[in-house]
Amino acid sequence: MRNHWSGRLGFILAAVGSAVGLGNIWKFPFITGMNGGGAFVLVYLVAILFCGLPILMAEFAIGRHSQQDVVGSFRKLTPKTPFWQVIGWLNLSVAFVILSYYGVVAGWTLDYLLKSLTGAFSGQEPEAIAAMFGSLVKDPIRQVCCLTAFMAFCLLAVIGGVKEGIERWNRILMPGLFVILLLLAVYAMTTDGAWAGIQFMLAPDFSKLTVSSVLEAMGHSFFTLSLAMGAMITYASYMDKNEPIWPVSIRIAVLDTLVAIVAGLAIFPIVFSVGMEPGAGPGLIFKTLPQVFATIPLGHILAVLFFILMAFAALSSAISLLEVLTAFMIDERRYDRKKATVLMTLAVYIAGIPSALSYSVLGKIKLINGMEILDSLDYIASNFMLPIGGMLIAIYTGYVLDKRIAKAEISEDGQNYLKIFSIWYFTIRYIAPVAVLVIFLTKVGIIKL
Ligand code: PFF
Repeated sequence: MRNHWSGRLGFILAAVGSAVGLGNIWKFPFITGMNGGGAFVLVYLVAILFCGLPILMAEFAIGRHSQQDVVGSFRKLTPKTPFWQVIGWLNLSVAFVILSYYGVVAGWTLDYLLKSLTGAFSGQEPEAIAAMFGSLVKDPIRQVCCLTAFMAFCLLAVIGGVKEGIERWNRILMPGLFVILLLLAVYAMTTDGAWAGIQFMLAPDFSKLTVSSVLEAMGHSFFTLSLAMGAMITYASYMDKNEPIWPVSIRIAVLDTLVAIVAGLAIFPIVFSVGMEPGAGPGLIFKTLPQVFATIPLGHILAVLFFILMAFAALSSAISLLEVLTAFMIDERRYDRKKATVLMTLAVYIAGIPSALSYSVLGKIKLINGMEILDSLDYIASNFMLPIGGMLIAIYTGYVLDKRIAKAEISEDGQNYLKIFSIWYFTIRYIAPVAVLVIFLTKVGIIKL
């Protein structure tokens, strides 16, 4: 008997855990602020509705029907055309690549958690705090230690299995994350920067909304729901047959979006309250925020809470990718869970070491467009592997997979759901793949808008 979640809540918490990650807490607030605030949020919601959500439902249908790992799923659903297992292999490699460098970034959050716990920021000059980030990434030993610690946590969660490990961890991580996020958001609303922060995040400024913002919104809808990396297919393979797919999918997409918006409403007011700039890139989290925490009342506690939040978000996402790899070894190679988890953690850990050394010992190695190893891997995964994988999943469920299977999974038993199935089927055949293709061709410069 395949292991299953204990019920709907267990599944939702795990899937939301996978979806809510650094993408929500760091990236979404920042790209929203830069792309016209509320105007961007609107476009993003449309992108989730027509691109992210249908593909999420497709992944759930594939995983739940096959009850297999990500490669086995495609073999089981279309046994006569082994070619389609390519999608599974692609998803599996994306999971491996992303996890290898994500572990490094997640390791930084652990280092900053430790710094905030020991009060390393208090009483320091802003320049000294900003410089801490540089010295962290340039310190090879510290980098490897952080990666080791983070991967050890992932191992501990996944080795326990679906119900006793992953679900149990998410039952702590997710509510913890929601509570901390709300506390920070409530605090943020009491600061002087509250109004400026809300405006920066939500006031619609259509003049800042460009074609590339639309592309950014579509791309992000994909990354933020953990699509095309095998996570949702694998998690759905532990789902019971009697759970209707579309209501859970909507809940997951809504929760993911809410967390992203509330994260912005928590971060920007705090930044504006001391008259700082929202800044760009990783600097916002690792340079600007610690400086703010050093100056505001209760900053010490807020810093600890904030980095726990980041660590929880990163951990629950990383767990989902480690499970993709572990499930593959268990289902395809017949390993037992213990052996599969240890082996996969070790493999990802070793593969992550070059990323951990990207800015120190291996700093001279530039792979793509003059970028270091970690940035290059992120670039390849986000811009190439994810869109191609997502488009293939849309094409597969829309055109290759037996329509009866899709119908049985999406529309369940009820007449009521048939309409939902038709809308979904239309979107997955005609809208999602075309939208993803356009993003992809534009990103690689073949279409010039
Ligand atoms: N949905 C995640 C996020 O928004 O951060 C994407 C992700 C990244 C999932 C890394 C899993 C992971 F290991």
